[in-house]
Amino acid sequence: MEEVYRLTRKVAQSNASILLLGETGTGKELIAKAIHQLSPRGSGPFIRVNCGALAENLLESELFGHVRGSFTGAIDNRTGRFEAAHTGTVFLDEINSTTAKLQVKLLRVLQEHEFERVGDTQTIRVDTRVIAASNRDLLEEVEDSRFREDLFYRLNVITIYLPPLRDRREDIPELVGHFLRIYNQQNNRHVPHVERRAMEALQAYAWPGNVRELQNYVERAVVLAPGDELTWDLLPEQVRGGKPPRIGRRRGADLETLVSELVEQGLANAGPQEDNLHAKIVDRVERELITQVMASCESVQIKAAARLGINRNTLHKKLHDYGLEKPGGPLEENAGG
Ligand SMILES: Nc1ncnc2c1ncn2[C@@H]1O[C@H](COP(=O)(O)OP(=O)(O)O)[C@@H](O)[C@H]1O
Ligand SMILES: [Mg+2]
Repeated sequence: MEEVYRLTRKVAQSNASILLLGETGTGKELIAKAIHQLSPRGSGPFIRVNCGALAENLLESELFGHVRGSFTGAIDNRTGRFEAAHTGTVFLDEINSTTAKLQVKLLRVLQEHEFERVGDTQTIRVDTRVIAASNRDLLEEVEDSRFREDLFYRLNVITIYLPPLRDRREDIPELVGHFLRIYNQQNNRHVPHVERRAMEALQAYAWPGNVRELQNYVERAVVLAPGDELTWDLLPEQVRGGKPPRIGRRRGADLETLVSELVEQGLANAGPQEDNLHAKIVDRVERELITQVMASCESVQIKAAARLGINRNTLHKKLHDYGLEKPGGPLEENAGG
């Protein structure tokens, strides 16, 4: 991380595009903001766009804006995020999710600093610095023809790689100390100490969610601690057991096995009029996904929605539909219709 911080300070002074690579939760957004703040553009806007959260057409109009009537639902002229980031920085998160069509448009903005709003012919010029992030190996995406090579090289002028937390366990004590200070202050608590056994468990854990996951567990422990120490028993089960968390457990197992288990169960439980296996299995998977993500977010819906990448109202409705509103509430798996 020393190297990351050194690079961050250095590249902040330039106007070059930056590519941040690393698993989710490794600190890409944090570094993007730091680069912006340390740069001569620091007083200008910092605009984040999650390219993975929107479908192609919506993302295009989000980035570049649109004119009234350019598509169904475009009831007004709208300024895009590139314009909003004029004199500042636009942070294109999950850029690997963009489609080929958008990649062409992005290449042009990077090269010429110009574009048109969707449905418009007038060319707009902006002074916007681009920082992009990907949680996939972009070069691999290029090799598999999912990402344009020219755009990759254009973005790849300076690349900063954020290593996963499991590869830099020596950072864990310092990060724990940092989050303890933050959450003690935020919650008006006094939990400055960490039990030795707790720190050992934290350093042994695999951290699939990286720093974000560590941050969540420290926050939770600070809130729950009865005394002035973060003790082992305050850590979630997967950290204490040294076992991978539930959501990761299936990762190695093959998906076909999981689905065929569900198919068998679905058929076994099916009534004679069963004709809706697809919806049933998708529901089962979605329900489990939401259950696990809600658990990992301490049932904070706004966090869970962000992590799932879905709208908060959508999550709320799904929690209701799946009977997941109250922990331990009634299960409605066999509800008809
Ligand atoms: N080195 C670090 N020091 C302090 N907090 C960090 C560090 N790295 C990540 N974080 C915190 O972890 C969380 C996840 O980081 P984020 O930048 O959103 O990751 P990513 O964009 O890679 O998913 C954020 O709350 C961030 O503030
Ligand atoms: Mg992120």
